Amino acid sequence: MSNWKRVLLIITGGIAAYKSLELIRDLQRRKIAVRCILTRAGAEFVTPMALAALSGDKVYQDIFSLTDESEMGHIELSRDADLIVVAPATANIIAKMRAGIADDLASTTLLATGKPVVIAPAMNVRMWEHAATQENIGVLKDRGISLIGPNEGDMACNEFGMGRMAEPSKIVEEITTFFSVRAGDTTPRLGARNGVLSGRRAVVTSGPTHEAVDPVRYLANHSSGRQGHAIAAALASLGAETILVAGPTQQPDPAGVTVKNVQSAVEMMAACQAELPADIVICAAAVADWRVANPPQEKIKKERGKNGNKTSAPPVLQLEENPDILASISTLKTERPALVVGFAAETNSVIEHAKSKRISKGCDWIVANDVSPGTGTFGGGHNTVHVIDGDGVEDWPVMSKEKIGFRLAERIAQYLETFS
Ligand code: PMT
Repeated sequence: MSNWKRVLLIITGGIAAYKSLELIRDLQRRKIAVRCILTRAGAEFVTPMALAALSGDKVYQDIFSLTDESEMGHIELSRDADLIVVAPATANIIAKMRAGIADDLASTTLLATGKPVVIAPAMNVRMWEHAATQENIGVLKDRGISLIGPNEGDMACNEFGMGRMAEPSKIVEEITTFFSVRAGDTTPRLGARNGVLSGRRAVVTSGPTHEAVDPVRYLANHSSGRQGHAIAAALASLGAETILVAGPTQQPDPAGVTVKNVQSAVEMMAACQAELPADIVICAAAVADWRVANPPQEKIKKERGKNGNKTSAPPVLQLEENPDILASISTLKTERPALVVGFAAETNSVIEHAKSKRISKGCDWIVANDVSPGTGTFGGGHNTVHVIDGDGVEDWPVMSKEKIGFRLAERIAQYLETFS
């Protein structure tokens, strides 16, 4: 466990405290160690014994405990953590954090820490909407504290509205992303080998292809490789043995991923085929549909006469079609991967075109995105995608490409757990 990331989880007194058990389990699955502080009110909802059993660690409750303070005082608890998560965070602890009150172990640790803090608020809708809480939240955000949720929904008090704690899966996603971003954006190796995709082999394509016009010129597109690399990093973080077949990009190689660098579509096809069989194939690369037929071995010259006048017509490039990597893998007769996912880069009628692409190429899912100029999809840090499968269309909100990678990897893991 020495290389595991460490979360100090502060559980305060709300009905959502029971969700902390699921949260601890899911974090441990991703090799994130959890140590718990339980407030007196929190202990009304969840027992220290259950928390200790799941976290595999002592649960800290009392600032005046002589043994705790000598073994692991509140300063040490904070020092030992990479991240402090307050879930559920009641209106009370939020108010104390804003005011700097330190009257128990949880609030004292929060006041004394210099570590990043994330809170998952959970309270009655009126408490959440109260001006005091909203003001407190605003101040905490300004101080750099991150918020996850709350969500809207039915409440334990028979009311409906904002105030439900975010689901543990969402909190885990945010925490995992936090660690990956701190590790350098594309190296989320927190889940390591024993994660939910352990034992699965994944091949991901990413980036553009360069199609030679002659030895010094090429045809290309605006793909940066950020989306494909983020997906490969996320799959690896869930434990998949991941091979990234990358066109020419400036992206750093994600840690723990085997990277095969290629230039052209033909090379990308050959590299993918060499990595099969695989359980999962994701084609996120922007592969050129055409290449120049028979590019010359020498640079094409622009002929000019002595006075600079043109003496030859511009060259005409004869194009020929590139192999379709996605379609060829999707339609394999033997050893077809259990899941083949394509991307659809569209500039109009995005969903409609993506749906027909899923059928014509034969892949299981297609992730549609709008690449019109002005969207920033090519090369940008964020994307808005629609995941299309045989059941319909899932519209995802705008997210960082890293988050999309994680969410897609989680969806893949769930699919494989259910269907193969
Ligand atoms: O790299 P970024 O800057 O982060 O941008 C991300 C992205 C926009 C490149 C990415 O999200 C994306 O949309 N990738 C697919 C781009 C593309 O080529 O789309 P397409 O609609 O032309 O192709 C459909 C699918 O067929 C894709 O999965 C593509 O990889 C695949 N294909 C296409 C042609 C070909 N010869 N072989 C293929 O495998």
